[in-house]
Amino acid sequence: MDINQIRNLIAQMTLEEKAGLLSGQDFWHTKPVERLGIPRTMVSDGPHGLRKQDEEGDHLGINDSIKAVCFPAASATAASFDPDLLEKMGEALGDACQHEKLSVLLGPAVNIKRSPLCGRNFEYFSEDPYLTGVMATALIKGIQSKNVGTSIKHFALNNQEHRRMSSSSDCDERTIREIYFPAFEMAVKEAQPWTVMCSYNRINGTYASENPWLLTEVLRNEWGFEGYVMSDWGAVSNRVAGVAAGLDLEMPASGGVNDRKIVEAVKAGKLDEKAVDLCCERILNVIYRFEENAKPETPWDKEAQHQMAADVAAECMVLLKNEGEILPLSREDEIAFIGEFAEKPRFQGGGSSHINCFKTTGAVEAAKAQGLKVTYAQGYSVKTDDAPAEMIAEAVAAAKKAKVAVVFAGLPDAYESEGYDRTHMRMPESQNRLIEAVAEANPNTVVVLHNGSPVEMPWIGKVKAVLEAYLGGQAVGMAQVKVLFGDVNPSGHLPESFPIKLEDNPSYLFYGGEPRGTEYREGIFVGYRYYDKKKMSVLFPFGYGLSYTTFEYSNLKLSTDSMKDTDELTVTVTVKNTGKRAGKAVAQLYVGDAEGYVNAVRPVRELKGFRKVALEPGESKEVSFTLCKRAFATWRAEIHDWWVETGDFTIEIGDSVANLPLKATVKVESTRELPRHYDLDSIVMDVMADPKANAIMGEFLKKAFAIFSMADENQTEAAQEAISDDMGEAMMGYMPIRGALSFGGGAVPEEMMLEMLKKMNQ
Ligand code: BGC
Repeated sequence: MDINQIRNLIAQMTLEEKAGLLSGQDFWHTKPVERLGIPRTMVSDGPHGLRKQDEEGDHLGINDSIKAVCFPAASATAASFDPDLLEKMGEALGDACQHEKLSVLLGPAVNIKRSPLCGRNFEYFSEDPYLTGVMATALIKGIQSKNVGTSIKHFALNNQEHRRMSSSSDCDERTIREIYFPAFEMAVKEAQPWTVMCSYNRINGTYASENPWLLTEVLRNEWGFEGYVMSDWGAVSNRVAGVAAGLDLEMPASGGVNDRKIVEAVKAGKLDEKAVDLCCERILNVIYRFEENAKPETPWDKEAQHQMAADVAAECMVLLKNEGEILPLSREDEIAFIGEFAEKPRFQGGGSSHINCFKTTGAVEAAKAQGLKVTYAQGYSVKTDDAPAEMIAEAVAAAKKAKVAVVFAGLPDAYESEGYDRTHMRMPESQNRLIEAVAEANPNTVVVLHNGSPVEMPWIGKVKAVLEAYLGGQAVGMAQVKVLFGDVNPSGHLPESFPIKLEDNPSYLFYGGEPRGTEYREGIFVGYRYYDKKKMSVLFPFGYGLSYTTFEYSNLKLSTDSMKDTDELTVTVTVKNTGKRAGKAVAQLYVGDAEGYVNAVRPVRELKGFRKVALEPGESKEVSFTLCKRAFATWRAEIHDWWVETGDFTIEIGDSVANLPLKATVKVESTRELPRHYDLDSIVMDVMADPKANAIMGEFLKKAFAIFSMADENQTEAAQEAISDDMGEAMMGYMPIRGALSFGGGAVPEEMMLEMLKKMNQ
């Protein structure tokens, strides 16, 4: 249906029908208008599987949904650093949605992992906005290639579960633009998600669901979003304000209450009916886009997708430690699998993304299916959150008999979930005790972790290897066995920093906040942007991940060493597999501002590109990256825009934020001047740093403040001793230029300075 037909349809609708269309029929459907043949469509949670519920739906996963396939959660898939993989996973999800007649899959969730404590971190990709944006964009493209919509969520600044439905996320504009918006922005500009889901929280005091700046100014006017915005489930406070702000669809049903309020507001002249029409237009567009492309005959081969889920999970695992190359394990050896997660893995999180899996495969089952010599001991009980002495004794005995003991550990469901935050970063004490006991019994101990966010590892020095599996989906056991026994060479890299302790995290002092809200006082210094700048030790840095082979980076080349901010820069680098096994490297590119003057407050470096490269032993490949203005720019609140400061920028390449062996410099010239205003209170240093202002007033200031110059022969010896060159320079630099009037003892006429200021401000 084209836009004119849709507008025609809207013209035939009564005000009541139009208002009705702006909220759900029930938990999962839009409202039909039978009189005009407008169908209802269904949306469903996910996004790493389908949580299609029938009529008795609820949004917290309490009621059963259909049997589906659970792929790895975003915390895991981000670690793959492989957007192609996410696109394929998206295609599989899109097929399943078509089969099940689902118009929109509710995801991806792209909120930034501001603190390790956020209960929904497992659903989120990363602490880095660029990585989050690239991965989410790929997933959206994959799903939507099947003519099924997505709902990128939760827009925006929903970085905690604590008081999530009322808390205000109080954050400055630059931080919002540089950290919390870019993933949404990239996805909207590059993949046009059919819908956006606004978050529960307020932003600087205003609910996301009634925020015209968020939903209209930025999302539509700036970024060009074409779809409809729906509310998170129950996120509407003032529905009429929401319509005016650009919130098209309220979910779930409002029981007719808010529909009536819309009608009343229009009748009372408090809400323009055109705003209601516009919401209808956007909703109908998506409804018909799906209806006209529906293919319920699309097959959904769950078995094939189970295998695919295993393949995806294997690409996501991050090898954090591998002392003495204890991994991969030998198929000939007797191996003890210890810990309940070996049999019943934790592979997804709790809440609205919870999938009712048609089957799951744990590591014990996967190993047995391959005839591997694996024994099993439970080690701890997830249910009781305990490791009784008998269980530990059994585990220790199994460990002693085996060549290698592999402990499957991590966070139980109750430790991280939608709806509430963690209060600490520890694993259950029972599991820590078990790991210590097993490591003492067998020096060849390996730990496999199941968690959606960083944990403390008090035993790290006592175990030989650690494999981070994140929440790897229903086939995670197959993937674990593939990686542990070397069928797949691990290639995941951490999408977040693992701090040594929670208190090291930059948001620690403010996270959770006070009843009214939470202040984002760490600003742009989220995750590695903080640890790196402060030169702090972390347990594992952002981007880190080992392999069973080794890689070498060389031959860094830039297409130019000097460019304008409107030009593109091509960066190439050679990656070589220098080991004996085939493997995949993740080449990461970071940009840093070497000498910001106006932009002085910046992270040392920020991720602006990455490439995953498969290499046979001895093989080399050249990879290339394209950088444009945004890679160098910061958000400047005074112009409400991105701005590059003229100067040198560093380009660094390597395999984590803490290992960047290659470095080059490019000079970028700004094509836009920041508006500057000078007055008598402006300081000498700032005038002199600005070529235009300096040309007008520089010489004059030097003379007026000659008193600070130690080069001045007229200074007495005592004065020369008292004031060093540096001090003199600083004292002059920080002088307000009005000082020239008084220091000159009245010799400088004020009118002359005002004349110069006028020219400087032109
Ligand atoms: C969650 C959303 C979810 C919705 C529907 C909400 O509680 O925040 O992510 O899509 O419920 O289940």
